[in-house]
Amino acid sequence: MKIAVFDSGIGGLSVLYEARRQLPREPFIFFADEDHVPYGTKTPEEVQGFVAEAFDFLIRQDVKAIVVACNTATSVAVPAMRARYDLPIIGMEPAAKKALDLDGEHRVLVVATPITVKGQKMQLLIDRVDKDHLVDRLALPRLVEFAERQDFDGPDVLAYLRAELAPYDLSQYSALVLGCTHFNYFKPAFREILPPSMHFVDGNEGTVRELRRQLASRHQLEDLGPQVTYYYSGREVTDASEQKRLNDYLQQLEKVYTL
Ligand code: DGL
Repeated sequence: MKIAVFDSGIGGLSVLYEARRQLPREPFIFFADEDHVPYGTKTPEEVQGFVAEAFDFLIRQDVKAIVVACNTATSVAVPAMRARYDLPIIGMEPAAKKALDLDGEHRVLVVATPITVKGQKMQLLIDRVDKDHLVDRLALPRLVEFAERQDFDGPDVLAYLRAELAPYDLSQYSALVLGCTHFNYFKPAFREILPPSMHFVDGNEGTVRELRRQLASRHQLEDLGPQVTYYYSGREVTDASEQKRLNDYLQQLEKVYTL
């Protein structure tokens, strides 16, 4: 059986990339909800509807687990999906704890979508892990649009990041938490602005470790060979130009993985 990796768009490819590193012999379905991206600037109710639709489709593909490779969807829709379906559903949340554990003294800046930044789930996370009030949150919704257009480091991206980061004294920060899977593509652009002492933290590795743990505990890890089927919303991606688009993203991820 296949594992589904689901996101509002192409951000989830960064999680798929990590999943294929850790589980190279598992087949995957990648589902990008291109009909409805972006999620982060819509209402929670709209996102809940999109996620329910995507899950209906993925369950019909008879998958053995669903990775919600989207912090925004996790924040507002995962509990309802767990109540509805009996299979491992692995969600994501900004890796603020990981960032604090790495340093614990300097400040940490979490960047994510507006829904994630303002959401109750994020507030609960901060209340739980940020005892010394070191975490700040910033919504960067335009990065999702830039990512979908494959503009990772053009002048508009850099001007946007410079303006949004200008109010922060970045010398006080040890980490930038990428709290939206679309943001991984922008590591080189961030690098041009952040001081060298600031490093990137994301939740991809931990999310895939959790997927592996849950499948292992159900004896559902398999050795079927590498294979990925890509869907934009409910449509399989078969068009050569769309396949090239996906390949370009995977190449950018290859470039930024170790940054
Ligand atoms: N990639 C998504 C996340 O991790 C959300 C992007 C969007 O659709 O706004 O939050």
